[in-house]
Amino acid sequence: MCGIIGYIGEREAQPVLLNGLKRLEYRGYDSSGMAVIFPKKNTISIRKAPGKIRDLEKILKVRPLSGNTGIAHSRWATHGAPTQANAHPHEDCKGEIAVVHNGIIENHETLKAQLIKEGHKFRSQTDTEVIVHLIEKFYKKIPLEDAVACALKLLVGSFAIGVISVKEPNKLVGARSGSPLIVGVGKNENFLASDAPAILELTKDIIFLDEDELVVLSKDSLKISDFEGKTIFKKPVRINWDITQAQKNGFKHFMLKEINEQPRILENILNIRIDKKSGQVIFKEQNVPEEKLKTIKDIFIIACGTAYHAGLVGKYALESICVIPTHIDVSSEFRYRDLLIGPETLVVAISQSGETADTLAGVREARKRGASVISICNVLGSTLTRESDGIIYTYAGPEIGVASTKAYTAQLAVLYLFAFYLAQIRGALSGFKINKYLGALRKIPKQMGLILKEQNSIAKVSRKYSHFGSFLYLGRNINYASALEGALKLKEISYIPAEGYAAGEMKHGPIALIDEYRAVVCIAVSSKVYEKMVSNIQEIRSRKGKIIVIASEGDKEIKALVREVIYIPRQDETFSPLLVALPLQLLAYHIAVKRGCDVDQPRNLAKSVTVE
Ligand code: G6P
Repeated sequence: MCGIIGYIGEREAQPVLLNGLKRLEYRGYDSSGMAVIFPKKNTISIRKAPGKIRDLEKILKVRPLSGNTGIAHSRWATHGAPTQANAHPHEDCKGEIAVVHNGIIENHETLKAQLIKEGHKFRSQTDTEVIVHLIEKFYKKIPLEDAVACALKLLVGSFAIGVISVKEPNKLVGARSGSPLIVGVGKNENFLASDAPAILELTKDIIFLDEDELVVLSKDSLKISDFEGKTIFKKPVRINWDITQAQKNGFKHFMLKEINEQPRILENILNIRIDKKSGQVIFKEQNVPEEKLKTIKDIFIIACGTAYHAGLVGKYALESICVIPTHIDVSSEFRYRDLLIGPETLVVAISQSGETADTLAGVREARKRGASVISICNVLGSTLTRESDGIIYTYAGPEIGVASTKAYTAQLAVLYLFAFYLAQIRGALSGFKINKYLGALRKIPKQMGLILKEQNSIAKVSRKYSHFGSFLYLGRNINYASALEGALKLKEISYIPAEGYAAGEMKHGPIALIDEYRAVVCIAVSSKVYEKMVSNIQEIRSRKGKIIVIASEGDKEIKALVREVIYIPRQDETFSPLLVALPLQLLAYHIAVKRGCDVDQPRNLAKSVTVE
């Protein structure tokens, strides 16, 4: 979703801001803009463009901005179409203040009506513009940060903002409530950003702002306070992500690079989480006491999108490995339900970004009711990790492709390990059995590598099927989740309608769709439901559906039935979703590439959904 970058220092702001915007492109956006204070005339100059950052760059080439203080923004339209007028930054009536904003101001219509009555002139259809006019209204004989605080107190909704003013050109003000904002601390320069990748090349020392905090930056100072002006002391955290991790390294797309990173990431997770000496699963940042985990009666998993599918695999694994009733909800449903949870419930929140608005709201609801919350998250210091009782990091490195791949399999790996961790604590499985399982899990990185070796043949199959107008994905038991995830990947990046179904439900509806124009991806790996999947395949075959099967190596029976078989190494059914994920990701990727789609930044989607 929208991205913010702000700069104050000794360099020219334009290249820093432009580069930052490019680093934030992965979040998803449809227009962009930049404002820089021009010191010679003490004016704010603004450039904006609908479309891609390169469109803004073209404008900046012809009409560059000069100055050392500025803000920039990539917008993902909510209120008002992605036009030049609606792109941020927005200015006040006199063009003396500029604001960029992430989030949604829910009471903007009331505020706007009042401001218009008071004589303010609006130039856009955005909710954001009320912020800059409110600041203008209060900015009389008080410092910019005080005027900002006065304005923010009137807002209902969520925001992260960056503000500059010609009246105080050596100041950059930021604030957050409900949307993430970080400060990058440099030498004779400071930065503001919605997300670390925007500034990681320039500094690794980051301060994560918390809810209702405001920061005033100059090139060599920073002051954090609450909206009442009470000072808050915070130290920067050193982020060890390497910027090369956020580059393509010779791959055509981030998504392809991230798919290929999975064996290494899995290996790393297993090395970090399984103690070499004792063979026990360890989670150092997990602070919910073992005594508490021994007494929990049930588990609720909450998540959105791909993370939800990881959670669904987690539900099957937790129930079979730890024998604890485990429920799962998409966060947007969980947060509004009459929840029957309390101190004996453990809530596991899964989120790659740790900033997904609905998941955060779900966590707050759960904690209000006394439940303990453990979050599974990829982004260090994200809001989710700061609002949970325990954290389990997935250590997948920055994921740039909007469609999640490596974060998904990292979430799966961590969920399996978490199940063994709980089984250890609660004595649900013998040490011998846990070791046996972990032995099977340890084979996964190598097996993933074997699948990736065959990626050219998967690409071939994908291209052959890329003209199909719709896809059905079928799986059973733990691979029902894989079917959902496979369908999601395809629709996200190729825009082909794709549905995931529990294969047992096929007769209750989807079978009506089957004819020679329907492509059906069946997950039929060796498992206790294998024969049932074969029956489903027979039924599709007799209705002329075009079938692609993902099967276990050595399965000759399937080859006799269908032409298109993608073989994956044999694994325990419990862990098979880790392997099944790879051909499904590659299938979606190559179909989308063949259709000429923007794989890394699919239309209308955002990497982190920070508004409801
Ligand atoms: C967006 C992304 C998905 C992601 C989902 C949840 O929809 O496009 O890839 O799965 O949000 O994001 P999270 O950061 O909470 O895992």
